[in-house]
Amino acid sequence: MSTGVSSATGGGSGGQLSTSTGGSIATGGQSIVGYKPWTPSAACVQKASALVEQQSVAQRVGQMTQVNSSDTKQVAVSPSAVTSGFLGSVLSGGSTYPSANDISVSAWTSMITSYVDASKNASPHVGLLFGLDSVHGNDKVKGSVMFPHNIGLGATRNEQLVENVTRITALEMLGVGANWAFAPAVGAARDIRWGRTFESFSSEPDLASQLGAAAVKGLQNGKLGATQSVLACAKHFAGDGATDGGKNTGDVTLLDEAAFRKIAVDPYRASIAAGVGSIMPSYSSYKGEQMTNSKKWLTDVLKTELGFAGFLISDWDAVGRLTSKTVWNDQVAAAVSAGIDMLMVSGGATGTATTSAHSAAEVASALTAFNNASQANAVRVKDAVTRILTIKCEMGLLDGDTSVDASLTSAIGSAEHRAVARDAVRQSLVVLKNDGILPLSDSVAHIHVTGSGADSLAKQCGGWTLGWQGMGTTGVTSTNVGTTVLAAVKKRYTGTVTSSTDGSGATDANLAIVVVGESPYAETQGDTKNGAAPTLTSQDFAAIAAVKAANVPFVVVLFSGRPLMLTDANNVSALDESNAFIAAWLPGTEGDGIADVLFGDYKPTGKLSFAWPATASQIPLNVGDGTTPLFAYGFGLTYP
Ligand code: BGC
Ligand code: BGC
Repeated sequence: MSTGVSSATGGGSGGQLSTSTGGSIATGGQSIVGYKPWTPSAACVQKASALVEQQSVAQRVGQMTQVNSSDTKQVAVSPSAVTSGFLGSVLSGGSTYPSANDISVSAWTSMITSYVDASKNASPHVGLLFGLDSVHGNDKVKGSVMFPHNIGLGATRNEQLVENVTRITALEMLGVGANWAFAPAVGAARDIRWGRTFESFSSEPDLASQLGAAAVKGLQNGKLGATQSVLACAKHFAGDGATDGGKNTGDVTLLDEAAFRKIAVDPYRASIAAGVGSIMPSYSSYKGEQMTNSKKWLTDVLKTELGFAGFLISDWDAVGRLTSKTVWNDQVAAAVSAGIDMLMVSGGATGTATTSAHSAAEVASALTAFNNASQANAVRVKDAVTRILTIKCEMGLLDGDTSVDASLTSAIGSAEHRAVARDAVRQSLVVLKNDGILPLSDSVAHIHVTGSGADSLAKQCGGWTLGWQGMGTTGVTSTNVGTTVLAAVKKRYTGTVTSSTDGSGATDANLAIVVVGESPYAETQGDTKNGAAPTLTSQDFAAIAAVKAANVPFVVVLFSGRPLMLTDANNVSALDESNAFIAAWLPGTEGDGIADVLFGDYKPTGKLSFAWPATASQIPLNVGDGTTPLFAYGFGLTYP
């Protein structure tokens, strides 16, 4: 190892991080040719181990606790809870805001700062990790630039671009004081009925691995502790995208262990080699065993065999959702024994759970009971805390107080950041059909822009934008700063532009741009109902039919988190009806990138990172299935 720290295969018991052999990390690292897991510096492991020895049990279990900044009843958890509970981390989950009606840069910055400041009272000083999902930019914060979701980045096949994108995400996060991104999702989504397909770079594990590692590098700025780096979190280990029927939080039963390892586990190797400091186990199960309490997958495979030397954060209330145990203390014991190092809970500081949402106080009491029950448990607790503090040491959080760099705050949403997003958008568009209408001629007199997505940043950005389920959904009253397709066309094109949202009004135009697609969703809300195939809505089919009836040549721009079925109930194909068709995924705030492709300022380069099924009965459809899709993996047209 370049650090002089050796990684000894098979060393250590149960994936334990230890300095017992004079500073060498006793986690494994299966001897696969060319595979080299990242290892922390011996100095940080030693510093963390020494700190743990100084800590009381209460301080140790606090370090293993991450509480949501508001509880499930949206009662604020005060910063003083960080001090009194010795908390290692705070997050703001998908539906959690500084206040119900203020999600501005300054509101976020002052809220996060108040928690970080509260942590400064701790002795010994242990710093604070503040986590946000940030899955396509600093996406909880109004004014931040939103990048294409991962499915679109997959179509770019461009590692350097992905690294640049997540670099900017890190800078914009640091601008509000957050230092931990629950990103990237590195699993390969194998069934497009899954509501999180858009968070996956590709159905193919090789591409998901490659771009996942690039995203880790961008977030962590090459290496944890580099200037302007945030902690990345590869998620959700393992099999989140491979569940039967594409069911979110479901069970994987149809893959044998070799296939499961190849599809669901291998992408983590690349992230671990790239130095990812944290990994989030999945809510989902493999053959009936929930990942969150699987010693085999978390400790034997991830920590020992793959040599993962960072720490494991449970998913949102995942421990309280374990079904193998019914009593909270037993759930905690099962999860921590399996290898969970930090628990994410949403039940506030001191409340008692009525659902799976437990409080920090309940975590503390369950972990204390676990710790005190046996010597082996106490060793496991110390190992968990050592892992967390080692990462904090690598990040420089143990060295002293960090304050927000005001120059990063003022750069949030800057023109420079938006230019990178615009470039990502144009590289992510996949042209599926073109009878010659593209690039659009800007010498015509009149273009009509229509459809449900034409002037909708909500559809353009998808889920995890300002709020959990996206803009325009519960709790998200704000709009973001960005450029819709309509606005981008008006900037780019000097002729007459008319618009509507339903396909009407095209008759007098020379050309039409019809922008349609899915409404935003996240997680289980995005799973299709009753195993149906994801399909264009009847409203969108009607908009396309209206433009067709007006006898105007048109291009369809589709916003979607996955390939959609394009044929309506009467067997009319939106693809066949159109003159050209572009899959634009969920491109984010920079609609100018779409105008770049429409008008030929950029010749399209995007290639499908998922195969596009021809019929519902082909789903699930993946490379090597032997079925003939509508468009194969890798398909994408360009201009002469
Ligand atoms: C999701 C995670 C996310 C967490 C915190 C969970 O429901 O599965 O991806 O990081 O919430 O928002
Ligand atoms: C939270 C999300 C979380 C979800 C899952 C939401 O209320 O804001 O972060 O992923 O619940 O339960």
